Amino acid sequence: MAIPYGKQEITEEDISAIVETLQSDFLTQGPKIKEFEENFAQYVNSRFAVAVSNGTAALHCATLALEVNNRSNVLCTPNSFVSTSNAVLFCGGKITFSDINKENFCLDLDLLESKIKAAPKGTYTGIIVVDFAGYPVNTQRLGKIAKEHNLWILEDACHAPGASYINSEGKEIIAGDNTYSDITIFSFHPVKHIACGEGGMITTNSEEIYKKLLLARSHGVTKENMTTLSESDGDWYYEMQDLGYNYRITDIQCALGISQLSRARKGILNRQRIAQFYNESLAGLPIELPKVEKNKNHAYHLYVIKTNKRKALYNFLRSKEIYTQIHYIPICNQPFYKKSSLVTQEEFPIANEYYSKCLSLPMYPSIKEEELIKVVDSIKEFFQK
Ligand SMILES: Cc1ncc(COP(=O)(O)O)c(C=O)c1O
Repeated sequence: MAIPYGKQEITEEDISAIVETLQSDFLTQGPKIKEFEENFAQYVNSRFAVAVSNGTAALHCATLALEVNNRSNVLCTPNSFVSTSNAVLFCGGKITFSDINKENFCLDLDLLESKIKAAPKGTYTGIIVVDFAGYPVNTQRLGKIAKEHNLWILEDACHAPGASYINSEGKEIIAGDNTYSDITIFSFHPVKHIACGEGGMITTNSEEIYKKLLLARSHGVTKENMTTLSESDGDWYYEMQDLGYNYRITDIQCALGISQLSRARKGILNRQRIAQFYNESLAGLPIELPKVEKNKNHAYHLYVIKTNKRKALYNFLRSKEIYTQIHYIPICNQPFYKKSSLVTQEEFPIANEYYSKCLSLPMYPSIKEEELIKVVDSIKEFFQK
């Protein structure tokens, strides 16, 4: 009975939805894409949503729409998957990392603000923030910092569809509603909350950004607002208005996404129940458990503990077929980043200390009770040795 750290759940309804689409007229560029986008926009309370082929494509479309170029210098957390900051490099922009918060492992907003204030005016162009593990970052505070310094915000909420927090006015802010961010992106990789095999979503409240995202997703080609249409041209005519990519998602994937989305809220409740079980069962052991403030609705893509004996515990659990994971090796430590002239070379002691101790325990709604008990008992056994 191998237990991974994350896993998709596929139901009979999911399978029927896929089969129905396979038997329909459209495998791609059909109606399921719009339907998924509309349902998702409603789920996160955003005005526009654009579905794409994966989370990395979503990040790239976002940096294109935000017009990142070789004059851009973007602040970013080092504690994420490499594609978060790669999207800036794709566009020739510079990356400056800023260290993480000791408690929630997301960008430290105090450090970020000091860094921006210490730099000459206009040094930075934007901020990429990650709702790491499903913890919703205080975008209200971040928004204030960004506004004061004329910076855009790209929120990477790949870990956090369905996460929310209560702002200082008592209003619920949902990851992806873009109350404070310009663009939010999501991934539908199977370990995430909503599995499409591969897939991604971008949300925004700006019509201008939305139009740019549509162009970036599909070759920069459009049939709207064409400037070169002449009398002799017919319905076939299209125009390439920008340099774009093929980042389209298929109707098959969207059919699965729609079906998965319909039970996403239930999935979060299950994840929160699993977190509660870990919190109670692991209390008292020499490990640091996740800390969550009362006003936060954590989406628990990951349940991350910290321990001085990380490698030994990882190996011990592996010997029992419990496959924990490490999220993340700080991006700034990757050889490519160490040598890149597009990266501001600095040390990040908090991210490094965090990396030396972090361990993601199995966390997915379909995990069985006996599997959870096995995880907890094995961790206890390790510390009793
Ligand atoms: C925080 C974060 N950003 C971006 C990505 C990239 O998403 P995808 O794998 O769908 O390209 C991931 C996926 O691992 C992620 O965890």
